[in-house]
Amino acid sequence: MRHVVAAVALAAGLMAGAVGQEVQTGAQNGGQQTTYQNMTPEQRAQATREFLGLGAAPDKAAAARGAPLFQQNCAFCHGPQARGATGPNLITSGEVLDDDHGEHLVAFLKKGRPEKGMPAYAAMSDEQLCDIAEFLHLQVEEVANRGTYKVLNILVGDAANGRAYVEAHCMACHTEETFAHIASKFRAPDQLQRGWIWPARGADERLAITATVKSPEGATVTGRVTQVSDFRITVVDSAGRTHAIDREEEVAVEMKDPLAPHQQMIMTLGNDDMHNVTAYLETLK
Ligand code: HEC
Ligand code: HEC
Repeated sequence: MRHVVAAVALAAGLMAGAVGQEVQTGAQNGGQQTTYQNMTPEQRAQATREFLGLGAAPDKAAAARGAPLFQQNCAFCHGPQARGATGPNLITSGEVLDDDHGEHLVAFLKKGRPEKGMPAYAAMSDEQLCDIAEFLHLQVEEVANRGTYKVLNILVGDAANGRAYVEAHCMACHTEETFAHIASKFRAPDQLQRGWIWPARGADERLAITATVKSPEGATVTGRVTQVSDFRITVVDSAGRTHAIDREEEVAVEMKDPLAPHQQMIMTLGNDDMHNVTAYLETLK
């Protein structure tokens, strides 16, 4: 199933308006189509799911099993309700929306995207990962069916406090220039927030994660990391040659992430600080 990533956020707003008024669903009632107002809560939930293309209803028992697993393993980066923290919001994630009962997510989670800061969960069982997937689907469901979800409810901070925070915590590494007109580089405050919390690595060579890999014989290879797992690392050296190296015990790998200090800085950021900084940066058009 294919979904537009922002569908939940956008369509949830629509559900509250258009669907509440007149959009009809397939649900039949004595030969007549049932309108949204006449539906039972279960019918509404189903209608919303169909409208948004959310696929199968989440399995609540599995989601309840997945909740503590999510809190232990994922909440730190994705927030307790998966709405994003230092890691992206998973409620609008295509990886989540495109999944039913873990059919894609389990494989995704086993591999992760280590080169982008998303760990691999190779050691977790399929059952555990399915439960986590179900927990995520339930979060999507709760957001979608509340019909009031707003992505942009982000400018709740205090710009003056945000400015003070930036002066105290950001200028060790940045200059005024980093932030000049920063708000005009992003289409919306949520993107601005994501942009400053997770500066995009993109194709920027300066920001690439690099590694030095040393074999037991003493040979070293240094280059840009294109893939990494517990078992294997692939680097591209400055001459453009690709080296895929099995990570046997005696192989030493030293990785360098130019954004690592940034990520540490983010870890110390409170919720209020985050909102204040976004509110301040939003004034820099
Ligand atoms: C150390 C921080 C961290 C932890 C812990 C973490 N993630 Fe992530 N996750 C990330 C980052 C960063 C990304 C974005 C990677 C990228 O840019 O492609 C991400 C991406 C994702 C995505 C894909 C989002 C998308 O649409 O591209 C999913 C799904 C996901 N994480 C689920 C999980 C789950 C489930 C767990 C726990 C089992 C977890 N993550 C643990 C940091 C983390
Ligand atoms: C320990 C150093 C460090 C601190 C502290 C730090 N940053 Fe960064 N930041 C970086 C590095 C390194 C980059 C990537 C290189 C670059 O774009 O300058 C970066 C990139 C960025 C970018 C993207 C810039 C671009 O041109 O794309 C933004 C925005 C940003 N940081 C905002 C902040 C804010 C806001 C704070 C304070 C709350 C902060 N940073 C604190 C090191 C830091």
